[in-house]
Amino acid sequence: MEAEIVILPDADALARVAAEHFAGLAREAVKSRKRFTAVLSGGSTPGGLFRLLAEEPYRTQIPWAQVHLFWADERCVPPDDPGSNYYLTHETLIEHIPIPPENVHRMQGELEPKAAAKLYELALQDFFCGPRPRFDLVLLGMGEDGHTASLFPGSPLLAETERLAAPAQASYQDRPAQRVTLTLPALNSARQILFLVAGSAKARIVQAVMEGPAGRLPAQYIQPTAGQLTWLLDAEAASLLKG
Ligand code: 6PG
Repeated sequence: MEAEIVILPDADALARVAAEHFAGLAREAVKSRKRFTAVLSGGSTPGGLFRLLAEEPYRTQIPWAQVHLFWADERCVPPDDPGSNYYLTHETLIEHIPIPPENVHRMQGELEPKAAAKLYELALQDFFCGPRPRFDLVLLGMGEDGHTASLFPGSPLLAETERLAAPAQASYQDRPAQRVTLTLPALNSARQILFLVAGSAKARIVQAVMEGPAGRLPAQYIQPTAGQLTWLLDAEAASLLKG
């Protein structure tokens, strides 16, 4: 299926459209499958979305008791460290919504990365009762180098076909280098994958991912095998697109 590209005026509009998407999918999934499984990312972009979801009307509209939150990646720091992806989500969303604690499936960034990855894989297989998860929604961001989750350019993880989660190491800006990430088999089996990308610093890489040669940048490897891929871009991030 072709990726859908939606261009919005600014980061606020992007967060609003993402919140509508999240709430709509949550209600639909709970109606048909009695639960909604969503994978969240870190970085600065999803903060606006998380804050909106914690406010009305979404706080009441979303059936939080049936929502299960997972993570695309985690930095190897304790859960109360400001560099932790879980911490960002906790501060902006989790502590403001009526979600049962057992529905929050965080990666254990405080553990040794290989052990944390293995434990996450086992937890996913247990939760989904099978070898592969099928998330209802995966929310991803993209770095200025084309990385997504903690799948970085040139990483051997881009060829991973078995493991669901793996340790990763990469320096990017001032963020912790040791990480745990979901792999392509775990991410690409989702029903819906939504990229959120905003700001002029991303314009060049957005253009390279969409209009450059295929198969080079990690974000280009995000191709749901039986699902829908949508890119939400703000006007600045989309400014170099020709098509
Ligand atoms: C992380 C993320 C990572 C992020 C991108 C984009 O833990 O760092 O999950 O993949 O989504 O780096 O980050 P920004 O939204 O800050 O640009």
